[in-house]
Amino acid sequence: MATQDEIFKKLIAHCKEYGFVFPSSDIYDGLSAVYDYGQNGVELKNNIKQYWWNSMTLLHENIVGIDAAIFMHPTTWKASGHVDAFNDPLIDNRDSKKRYRADVLIEDQIAKYDEKINKEVEKARKRFGDSFDEEMFKQTNARVKEHIEKRDALHERYSVAMNAMDLNELKQIILDEEIVCPISGTRNWTDVRQFNLMFSTEMGSTADGTMKVYLRPETAQGIFVNFLNVQKTGRMKVPFGIAQIGKAFRNEIVARQFIFRMREFEQMEMQFFVRPGEEMKWFEHWKQFRLRWHKALGLGDHKYRFHDHEKLAHYANAATDIEFEMPFGFKEVEGIHSRTNFDLSQHAKYSGKKIEYFDPELNQSYTPYVIETSIGVDRMFLSIMCAAYEEQQLEGGDVRTVLHLPAVLAPVKVAILPLTKKDGLPEKAREIMNELKFKFKAQYDEKDAIGKRYRRQDAIGTPFCVTIDHDTLTDGTVTVRDRDTMQQERIAIAELSNYIDQRVNMQNLYRKLMAE
Ligand code: GAP
Repeated sequence: MATQDEIFKKLIAHCKEYGFVFPSSDIYDGLSAVYDYGQNGVELKNNIKQYWWNSMTLLHENIVGIDAAIFMHPTTWKASGHVDAFNDPLIDNRDSKKRYRADVLIEDQIAKYDEKINKEVEKARKRFGDSFDEEMFKQTNARVKEHIEKRDALHERYSVAMNAMDLNELKQIILDEEIVCPISGTRNWTDVRQFNLMFSTEMGSTADGTMKVYLRPETAQGIFVNFLNVQKTGRMKVPFGIAQIGKAFRNEIVARQFIFRMREFEQMEMQFFVRPGEEMKWFEHWKQFRLRWHKALGLGDHKYRFHDHEKLAHYANAATDIEFEMPFGFKEVEGIHSRTNFDLSQHAKYSGKKIEYFDPELNQSYTPYVIETSIGVDRMFLSIMCAAYEEQQLEGGDVRTVLHLPAVLAPVKVAILPLTKKDGLPEKAREIMNELKFKFKAQYDEKDAIGKRYRRQDAIGTPFCVTIDHDTLTDGTVTVRDRDTMQQERIAIAELSNYIDQRVNMQNLYRKLMAE
């Protein structure tokens, strides 16, 4: 049985082999934590973006979209707090010369205690069977009690240090916990330092000089600086939202886990502007809506959980993550933040412009509060691929690699396969292809035996394979093979378009989302 780590490595190799994700500038051996999406990857990514965009702007009359530039006036980042506070605490190991995030080293240590506790619990569960009482066991077993006490004490100390950004204390925790560098195995650590994650470059080439500009580390600020433009020109009434999809850049210290933590990535963010005092109601609303959005894809409800933040970002008064169970544990895919009126107030202060909304119902002006939903396209992509990938053991000892992608998101919806290359089958198949291609992303394939062609489509997650055989020429029917069940059924060509449409149309997903 392959470990989760092995499965993840296989998934990364699969992504490359089947045109989903390539290392950036691959012929030059890649660029750390930067990736390119291939011919299948880009289709999947576009479908994810379409699902998100329409769930926001199509299903909500009070949400509109924008597409702001990546470069923004540098004062934006002063006002937002990113110049001063968008830092990670970093630490170097003098022997391996490797750089780490101090907070990640400590969080990994906390996870180790959790692992120990879980191991003991699982051992006991097996020993006691049905009569096992987990809570009682945790309260009474001396070894587990000790692990829990150590874990909780470390967690408390860490939270306090992070909230105060006490760099000396972070280092002291690493020393006290005897955390070693995974490469050198030593505890020869430097002091902890702050590291700003924003990339900068220079704009202009005039004699007067150049201006330092940043590559945006989040898309959100493009929305805030356009609040008045959109509110006025769109005659928007609070509560309303502005959605945006776009690239963001962070000079991450530790780039790990494939496309999970990248230096160039894409975000889908929506800022929802509400009356002051109503933010908690909307925070709850968006938490629930966003979870439903994820679950509607059918990847498995048990794979999601909320994780409330203990250390709040400099702008937030409440925050939670939607985490997804990846092969390397539950990990953040989306953040939902109550950002107060911090951003709009800051931009008002730094720009000298009045950024307020006149509420005709209350007959008063105020700076709206903001609920943000922020999801990484690449992390969403990764979570879908992780859930979809299977090496399936078949009867007779064969193994097939299949991607059980949600049919609505699959890069190719239907493959058109003439059984043989003669007897007029390719011509008939082309005829069907030429009709279906106006509606669905379809792929024509006549090379190799039919079984091999099915496997190729399974590997990229194509939900339906349509086979054109000799009966097709006489009775006007084709065989449709289902990717997941491998069952085949006979369908009239005239029914084909409807049959596929019912199963891959995103409208069904939207209806499901709004019906709950
Ligand atoms: N505007 C709020 C904001 O940017 P965040 O929690 O820093 O919040 C939101 O980021 C989402 O963006 C995350 O949940 C994650 O999906 C994605 N994300 C953040 N950093 C990333 C990175 N280095 N690589 C890939 N995705 C990232």
